[in-house]
Amino acid sequence: MFKKLVTGAAFALALVPAASFAAGGEAHVEDFAFSFEGPFGSYDQNQLQRGLQIFTEVCSACHGLKQVPIRTLSDEGGVGMPEDQVRAYAANFEVFDPELDDFRPAKPTDHFPENNGVGAPDLSLMAKARAGFHGPYGLGINQIVKGMGGPEYIASLLSGYTGETKEEAGTTFYENHAFPGGWISMAPPLSGEDVEFADGHSNELHHEAQDVAAFLMWAAEPKMMARKQAGFIGVLFLTVLSVLLYLTNKRLWAPHKGKKSA
Ligand code: HEC
Repeated sequence: MFKKLVTGAAFALALVPAASFAAGGEAHVEDFAFSFEGPFGSYDQNQLQRGLQIFTEVCSACHGLKQVPIRTLSDEGGVGMPEDQVRAYAANFEVFDPELDDFRPAKPTDHFPENNGVGAPDLSLMAKARAGFHGPYGLGINQIVKGMGGPEYIASLLSGYTGETKEEAGTTFYENHAFPGGWISMAPPLSGEDVEFADGHSNELHHEAQDVAAFLMWAAEPKMMARKQAGFIGVLFLTVLSVLLYLTNKRLWAPHKGKKSA
């Protein structure tokens, strides 16, 4: 009975019209379909490689990724870059070595560099720090149904510029309908055809935004695949255990059942 009430209430709330929270000034986040969504979803290695390329060629000019060790690019279930390529890739970055008291090319054991100033936040955990879906009324029902939506938020942000700008106290702000408040100080970093993909994949703005958002999800949660796998094995194990316990229970009680008259 109680359970029925709870599900009933949840269902009624889920039906509250979308307008009720759009009216609250909620920024618009598009529900992108990512390969890693759902209990069996996994990262798309080609997409992560494209995302890495965009991050390297565009975003890393301002943004750091300082929590992410470069060597993890060769991890399984992620970008999957061969180790010799990781070594060559690392050498593109310069890091400060306190022992040498000088800059040197990065090695796979180093982390990605920090921000290059300009007030850009570090992106290591951005995909988990931002929630794309809320409400209605802060209940988080959309989060339960659609997931956290961090990567959706990033993809929507990158493709959500309207083209309007304004000056305030010497800073230029760009109108963006995914950014809370509607005005962001980051100039549109992508406009489509910003990178050339080796595999000839589409470099339209929408695709680029989604690819780099997927890469940032991986950066924030590189072990997602292992976590889902462990969860699945756990559920499987508990299912088998339940069946065995049920059969044992039935067997143990079998002699005492059906003896009502005794
Ligand atoms: C020219 C420098 C520059 C480049 C290039 C750049 N950004 Fe930014 N980015 C910024 C600045 C500055 C902010 C802070 C904006 C603010 O808070 O108003 C920011 C903020 C962000 C945020 C956080 C928004 C939030 O919710 O607070 C994300 C996500 C982001 N950038 C992603 C990217 C991605 C992905 C790329 C590459 C495609 C990129 N940026 C390229 C300067 C840059």
